[in-house]
Amino acid sequence: MTENTNEALDIKKNSESNTESSAQKEKETDYRKVAIIGCGFVGASIAFTLMQRGIFSEMVLIDRDRKRAEGEALDISHGLPYSAPMEIYAGDYDDIADAALIIIAAGANQKPGETRLDLIDKNLAIFSQIIPEIKKRDCKGILMVVTNPVDILTYAAIKMSGFSPRRVIGSGTVLDTARLKYLIGRSLDVDARSVHAVIIGEHGDSELAVWSGANVSGIDLDHFCELRGIAHYKVTTQRLYTEVRDSAYEIIQRKGATYYGIAMAVAKIAESISRDEHSVLPVSALMNGEYGIEGMCLSIPSVVGAKGVEKVLEIPLSGTEQRELTASAKALSSALEHADKAAMELQ
Ligand SMILES: NC(=O)c1ccc[n+]([C@@H]2O[C@H](COP(=O)([O-])OP(=O)(O)OC[C@H]3O[C@@H](n4cnc5c(N)ncnc54)[C@H](O)[C@@H]3O)[C@@H](O)[C@H]2O)c1
Repeated sequence: MTENTNEALDIKKNSESNTESSAQKEKETDYRKVAIIGCGFVGASIAFTLMQRGIFSEMVLIDRDRKRAEGEALDISHGLPYSAPMEIYAGDYDDIADAALIIIAAGANQKPGETRLDLIDKNLAIFSQIIPEIKKRDCKGILMVVTNPVDILTYAAIKMSGFSPRRVIGSGTVLDTARLKYLIGRSLDVDARSVHAVIIGEHGDSELAVWSGANVSGIDLDHFCELRGIAHYKVTTQRLYTEVRDSAYEIIQRKGATYYGIAMAVAKIAESISRDEHSVLPVSALMNGEYGIEGMCLSIPSVVGAKGVEKVLEIPLSGTEQRELTASAKALSSALEHADKAAMELQ
C-alpha cells in the first residue's frame, strides 16, 4: 500500500469517525423533535398548532393520564394528510431525551376567581415530579415552561434542573403582548401585525404595557391615534391595558380555560428556537441585573434562538414604566421562597 493510499484511508477513517461523531451528536439532540408534557386544554392546543406549522417531524406527548395523551396523539395525527408528515405519539420520558424542545404545560389551571399566583404550590408539586425525570435523562434541548404562574415555575425549573438559565424559557408575556397588539389593532382599525407594542414584567396582575415605545410601523402610537381621530389617548390606552390584563379572567369566566391564544404564542417561540430566527419576544427569563432586577424570572423583550434566550434587551422605559416594572418584580419576589423550598427538597 502506498503512502498516498494510506493517507487516503486515514482521511476516509477520519471522515468516517467525523461522520460518526456528528451522527452521535445528531442523536443527542434531534432538532426536528419536540415533546409536550401535559396534554390538557393547553398542551393539546399547542400540539395541534405545532402539527399545522410543520416545523417538527416528531412530537412526543406525555401526560400523567396516558390515555389522554394517546387520544390526543391519535386525533391530532388524523390531520396530517392535510398538513405535513410528522410522527406523533404518546410516550414517556425515555422518548424525549433527544428532543430539541420540551414544552411543559402540565398542571392545574385557574378556576374562576383564582389568580395565577394561587396555583403555586399545586404546580410546584407537579414540577417536582416532572423536572427530575428530565434531568435524569440529561436532556440537552430547550425547556419551555407554560404552566402558571409561569415566572415562578420557570425559575423553579432552572433551580430544579440545574440547566443553564439561557435554555430554560417561560412563555412569559408573549401571549399578553399578542392580546395587546390585537386590541390596539382593532381600536385603530389597523393590521395587528403592524402594531409594535409590548407587555413586560409578570405574566399576571402586575404586568405593564410599554406605551412609551408603542408605535404603528414606526409612527408613535399617540400620533397614530390622532391620525385615526381618537381623542383621550391616556383613557384609551388605560382601557386597552386593563382589557389585556383581565383577558384570562374574562375567558375563564365564560369557558373555563384559555388555550388557543397561548398555543399560537408558544408556536411562535418554538419557531424562533427551531429555526434559530433570533426573534425578539418577551419570554420569561432569569434576570441578571437588568433594570436592577436579579435572581428571578420575568418577561423583558429578549432575542430567542436555537440556544434559547440569547440576550435580554434593556429597552428604554419611562420613569413610570421603570417604577411599575420594579413593583411587578416585587410582587413576584415573595413567591420565590416557595420555589426555592421545592427545589431544596429535591436535593
Ligand atoms: N403561560 C400562559 O400564558 C398560560 C395560558 C393558559 C394556561 N396556562 C397554564 O397552563 C397549565 C395547563 O392548563 P390546562 O388548561 O391545559 O389544564 P388542564 O387541567 O386541562 O391540563 C393539565 C394537564 O396536566 C396533566 N398533568 C398533571 N400533572 C402531571 C404530571 N405530573 N405529569 C404529566 N402530566 C400531568 C393533567 O393530566 C392534565 O392533562 C395551567 O397551569 C394554566 O394556568 C398558561
